[in-house]
Amino acid sequence: MRDLWSISTAELADGKESIMRRGNVYQIANGYMGYRGTLDEFGPQQLVGITLAGIFDRVGSAWREPVNAPNGGFTSVALEGVELSTLGKKVVRHRQTLRFANAVFERETEFASKGTSLTIRSARFLSADTPNLGVIRFSITCSNAAKVTVRTGIDGNIWDLNGPHLIQMSAERRESVLLLQGLTSEASKRVVVAEATDLSFGDEVHEIKGNRNLRVINLRAEAGKVYTFHKYFAVFTDNDAVDKPVAEAAIEAVRQAKTLGYEACMASHSAEWRKRWDQSDVKIEGDNDAQHALRYSILQLLMVGPVKGSANSIPARALSGQAYKGAIFWDTEMFMFPFFLHTHPEKAIELMRYRIKTLDGARRKAKTEGSGYRGAFYAWESQETGDDACTYFNIGDPSNGRQLRTYFRDKQVHISGDVAIAMWDYFRLSGDDSLLLEGGAEVILECARFYCSYIHYKRDKQRYEILDVVGPDEYHERVNNNAFTSMVVKETFTIANETVRHLRREHPKALRTLLRKLRIKGELPNFRDAARRLFVPKPDAKTGVIEQFDGYLGLRESTVEELKARMLHPNEYLGAGQGLAVPTKIIKQADVVMMLSLFRTRFSAELKKANWEYYEPRTEHGSSLSACAYAMVAAEFGNLDFAYKYFLKTAKIDLEAKYRVYAGSVFMGGSHPAANGGAWMTAVFGFGGVQADENRVAINPRLCGKWRRLQFNLAYKGDAFRVNITKTSVRVDASPSNSRVHTVLVAGKPVKCSPGRPVTVKYGRTR
Ligand code: BGC
Repeated sequence: MRDLWSISTAELADGKESIMRRGNVYQIANGYMGYRGTLDEFGPQQLVGITLAGIFDRVGSAWREPVNAPNGGFTSVALEGVELSTLGKKVVRHRQTLRFANAVFERETEFASKGTSLTIRSARFLSADTPNLGVIRFSITCSNAAKVTVRTGIDGNIWDLNGPHLIQMSAERRESVLLLQGLTSEASKRVVVAEATDLSFGDEVHEIKGNRNLRVINLRAEAGKVYTFHKYFAVFTDNDAVDKPVAEAAIEAVRQAKTLGYEACMASHSAEWRKRWDQSDVKIEGDNDAQHALRYSILQLLMVGPVKGSANSIPARALSGQAYKGAIFWDTEMFMFPFFLHTHPEKAIELMRYRIKTLDGARRKAKTEGSGYRGAFYAWESQETGDDACTYFNIGDPSNGRQLRTYFRDKQVHISGDVAIAMWDYFRLSGDDSLLLEGGAEVILECARFYCSYIHYKRDKQRYEILDVVGPDEYHERVNNNAFTSMVVKETFTIANETVRHLRREHPKALRTLLRKLRIKGELPNFRDAARRLFVPKPDAKTGVIEQFDGYLGLRESTVEELKARMLHPNEYLGAGQGLAVPTKIIKQADVVMMLSLFRTRFSAELKKANWEYYEPRTEHGSSLSACAYAMVAAEFGNLDFAYKYFLKTAKIDLEAKYRVYAGSVFMGGSHPAANGGAWMTAVFGFGGVQADENRVAINPRLCGKWRRLQFNLAYKGDAFRVNITKTSVRVDASPSNSRVHTVLVAGKPVKCSPGRPVTVKYGRTR
């Protein structure tokens, strides 16, 4: 029977490309850091990466990117003086496994040399309850008595895309703890790794060579004896709020972990993971393929959810490396945030705190873009400070190496509204307005203020229009009245008005202070006016099609195949000025359909169908954000076959790792947390039919063909529910610890859900 809680392979990676992809598939992470799925003996050539959340560095004029820490997990083994590696010729068998239940990576490899076989077994995890900590168990067994050399410690040879980021590296040993530290080159932030082991066999000498700080253990291994040791490594940086020098903190962390021991560290780590899964697992009966892929996607999200109190967010390539500059895009608010909001609100709030923390960066951007705007224009690619990491020339032409002008940074203005919508959704669905008071309301008002300074009043039409933007479809830049953008901007004005209304009612003093601080009172009537009179493109009266932007319907018809056949280079970018898609109707990703998915309660199934059918054949799905939007909308108007196909495509993206790794000449290989979030949304919102707003949760199930049962969890207004859907019934279990009775709308029927009292409702045709 297939194990639905792990992935495993017995194949060896062959070549750089497969090592790179496998490093993504088998990665582990704990919100503080990610550790690529590479093997113990690997080095920078094999793209070993311990990527840290929320700490960035820039070398010279290259792109700023997240910092990778020295590898405290390094161990290599030599048998009779011959170094063993799965990349060498001595491998007899190999297996590596990632366990979903607690994000543990394991490998077992048997090598043979000169008549002796040596087996390495290791297991590693990044602690879910102690964010700075990594823990490894490593064991060696030989078939015959043999001379074995183990090198274990910290490898400071770091894989970087645009590094080296750590300068003034220094290695030392303090009593039995190894230490390697350096400073980031730009902001001189200290990054330190400490390592301790409980190794108690062989003769140990300490070796500092190049950037490696190692213990070298020479052992006369006995036949059949298992030699096991445990490694504990801790990473600390100046971003950590600790009351002592970070090196001291790192040393203390590994000493404590060593005193606790591997089993105890594993037990508390696994207990934390059990809680996580209990809150967020989705069960699909009747379809193991979907179950496995969705669980893997959820694992990816659970691994990278921000650490409590960090005010960090999740980059577009999560913590799988430095691709995409480790930047945070709209991906987080639009595709990942809903998962956290509905299952782990304590992580969702952290994602929003990141936007509060970076509000000043968004203000700086507003002031300096174009001729200067007001309010908050969030970075298209946001890092530590919220200043924009996106460059004006953000894509390279692979044929000639020239940099192409793109307008993602200066014209993809929907980003501010995406932030405001998520901020408001947090309040609406959690019922907790503390975030608004912590700075969320300020973010919302500043986003509305930015839009006020961006929109145009068309006197002849007596309406506002939003001109010169880039919508989600990045192949058509500088367009007017992009439906998605206009809808998001209009919503932002409405949210700003609602925010003021809420604060006036509940927190009048806080409102007064805020209005005074922002000197914004006089602008509030403009928000109300804009919310009413901002133009959003309407569906065509006959066809129901909403034009993506002014003039889109007049563009040349083409097909993705036609454009691909004309490409001069396999990685050629289809947008940016001269791109092949620019004069055509071919779009990169869901745009109008993204709008229908985001505002799914506002449009009829008929309208969704008409637009979906119009735009789908014209969509390249050139972004991993596209398929899930089409899947969700397809589920809503009843094309379940298509919804299923695109659900699977989205859910398997990181599992199968067949994705494109270049955009133009820019390397962007890594994992796809937005698609992981999209897979969850398609299951729960699409097939589960969940729609929650400030008043209630509604469930309108539409299980696809093979699915006999779909079970998921929902957090809503501080309470918790488990929903069980079959083809004929919906059962809602309100947790016994819920604070009150909720009315849930099941297939249109209001159902009272009391704490600890499950209710089952029949729906549809009974079979
Ligand atoms: C997509 C954007 C997305 C970015 C990061 C681009 O290819 O067009 O919508 O935000 O990738 O995932």
